[in-house]
Amino acid sequence: MPKTKKLIVGNWKMNPRSSASSRQLAGKIERGWQRKAQTIVEVVVCPPVVFLPAVHQVFKKVKLGVQTVTSEPIGAFTGEVSIDQVLEFGIQYAILGHSERRAMGESDGQISRKIQLVQDSQVTPILCVGYGTKRGDSVSRIKQIVRQQIVKALRGTKFGFKDLVVAYEPVWAIGTGLTATPDKVAEVAKFIKSITHNSLVLYGGSTSKSNISSFANQEAIDGVLVGGASLKPQEFLQMIKAFSSFHF
Ligand code: PGA
Repeated sequence: MPKTKKLIVGNWKMNPRSSASSRQLAGKIERGWQRKAQTIVEVVVCPPVVFLPAVHQVFKKVKLGVQTVTSEPIGAFTGEVSIDQVLEFGIQYAILGHSERRAMGESDGQISRKIQLVQDSQVTPILCVGYGTKRGDSVSRIKQIVRQQIVKALRGTKFGFKDLVVAYEPVWAIGTGLTATPDKVAEVAKFIKSITHNSLVLYGGSTSKSNISSFANQEAIDGVLVGGASLKPQEFLQMIKAFSSFHF
């Protein structure tokens, strides 16, 4: 769990092309981030697992996360990577249930097994919800979808809401340049807090340096999950700075 109240998470997805580029990108973020902001904001980067060894050597202030893990602890699962296998890189967060993974067939049952394994390893799950929502959905419709996804993801888990971060990511806003309305996101964030015993709630979906302040100035939004813009170090740093300048 972050020691700060705000959390900014960069999800590099399947980028960049090489280990050398990932090291360069990590270096720019690590060096550019003002040390004094650390008491306010925690910054996490989730690179592709293959680049963890390279990036791990660069990050000191920035924390590391993974974009997913497999739902099994160990064994004959070709191509998969378990949470235990990434722990040696100092992983502190795991994004789970991202809509791009749900679109590849990840089920609620798999997500809840992943949450269990991740929590067992003292890693904080960042549970993504909002898959299946449509632009123009009413807040009550969004609440219904989000509640179902949270309930299913936590079904049977031992630790439940303890140390859980929830990212509300309307699927239509991811990578499209369209964002949800900050007021509406704040309303959904408050609802998520009310059903999760106050977990941290992030917003994700086309956040950028030009719209970040409108999310940062909403008290109920504890941070952002950033895709595309996290690959542009100057822009990502500006977004971190924007979040550091709002105190509640
Ligand atoms: P985006 O991605 O910032 O590129 O829209 C967000 C996400 O996938 O979490």
